[in-house]
Amino acid sequence: RKDRELRIHESLDDLSTDLADYIAEISEASVKERGVFAIALSGGSLIGLMGKLCEAPYNKTVDWAKWYIFWADERVVAKSHVDSNYKLAKDRFLSKVPIIPSHVHSINDSVSAEEAADDYGFVIRQLVKSRVISVSDISDCPKFDLILLGMGPDGHVASLFPNHSVLEEKDEWVSFITDSPKPPPERITFTLPVINSASNVAIVATGESKAEAAHLAVDVIGSDLPPVPAGVVQPLKGKLVWFLDKAAASKLDAG
Ligand code: 6PG
Repeated sequence: RKDRELRIHESLDDLSTDLADYIAEISEASVKERGVFAIALSGGSLIGLMGKLCEAPYNKTVDWAKWYIFWADERVVAKSHVDSNYKLAKDRFLSKVPIIPSHVHSINDSVSAEEAADDYGFVIRQLVKSRVISVSDISDCPKFDLILLGMGPDGHVASLFPNHSVLEEKDEWVSFITDSPKPPPERITFTLPVINSASNVAIVATGESKAEAAHLAVDVIGSDLPPVPAGVVQPLKGKLVWFLDKAAASKLDAG
């Protein structure tokens, strides 16, 4: 497990600072290497925890014009709906930094979940062709510079829920579900091959309710127990970093 790092923080404030530093570093390295930075966001508490990026020094030092934003998962609701991951990111983050609006690739919110997943796959394909997103030499999947994931108490990441057939998807880059156990039921999500093709993946989990799932994901790999979805996030070539607070790390073997 050499490509997995655990960063366990005493406080949410420390975690947020470290997360902002980490994102800013990967952004800088990607812009240096490729001229652009392709980042995928999720929903949930992660967005608040990224908030320090809107403050000094990051608001001045990050090369925002080179950012291209995507979503690892999105709820199929209007962009103005309170459940929209796009709206959450816009209100809490995107509206506070000078990102170029045409670089923000949110999902089509006026079609069915199935069509929205198809459309999003198409958008990603176009941006792979134009090299805004690079491509994995091992999987032929898009290789995002960074995919940020939250984790639910059940161990779900993006909209990949435990025991759901979408976890088995091998061909599609973007799938849809209409039976999410966490409302709202209709969602689109990156598939595991896309998540595991990224250059960098971060899983951010805080609070006691995440402790058991964090343990299952981090410690139970290789045993007979079916791992939680977060446990099958294992980038082929990229690097995985877990950002945890003390409470979420409290059941780890090493914790
Ligand atoms: C979603 C999110 C989801 C989220 C986790 C953790 O659309 O529901 O993308 O994957 O990241 O559920 O959310 P919390 O950090 O708020 O618990």
